[in-house]
Amino acid sequence: MSDRTELLRQIKDEVIGLKESPLYQERIKNKVFPVIGEGSHHARIMFIGEAPGRNEAATGKPFCGAAGKILDELLVSADIDRKDVYITNIVKDRPPFNRDPLPDEINAYGPFLDRQIEIIQPSVIATLGRFSMDYIMRKFGLENQLKSISQMHGKSFKATTNYGEIKIIPLYHPAVAIYNNTTKDTLIKDFQILKSPPL
Ligand code: URA
Repeated sequence: MSDRTELLRQIKDEVIGLKESPLYQERIKNKVFPVIGEGSHHARIMFIGEAPGRNEAATGKPFCGAAGKILDELLVSADIDRKDVYITNIVKDRPPFNRDPLPDEINAYGPFLDRQIEIIQPSVIATLGRFSMDYIMRKFGLENQLKSISQMHGKSFKATTNYGEIKIIPLYHPAVAIYNNTTKDTLIKDFQILKSPPL
């Protein structure tokens, strides 16, 4: 097993055993799974969503429900193969009734996301929705460039990591496009930037 696969497996084991997580009891009560992440361990692009929904918690796979169907369409529109990217969320367990994640939940799972980024070392981080945008911009010390997602979507922000310079690209959450064709058109346009992010 490669180093990356082994390190990612350790994260999975730790999240499975994370009894102190505010969402652990929900997981046990509902007999569902945490969603760690899926895709290439050498991905150029890492997509970061918010938290698993019903289908994701039932299967343990990220973006496999209605929002995932939109994400798949967006990837196709940008000529990106889903198996070449890595897809994960900040929060690894499903919040009850798909409510927004709470600060405590983001704090509990954030360190696992940080480790996933360090292991995979993507050159592009595409955030899906305002929670991951906020987390990632702050993580890389770019909080002074934070604005509303309507002002930031589709733009590219330079960040410095311990493995070199990367691009952060905030995007709307695909779930917003389920019933809103205007947002879907915006997402399709924004996804084009992922084909060759400007330096
Ligand atoms: N919404 C998310 O943010 N993540 C998923 O995995 C599914 C829906």
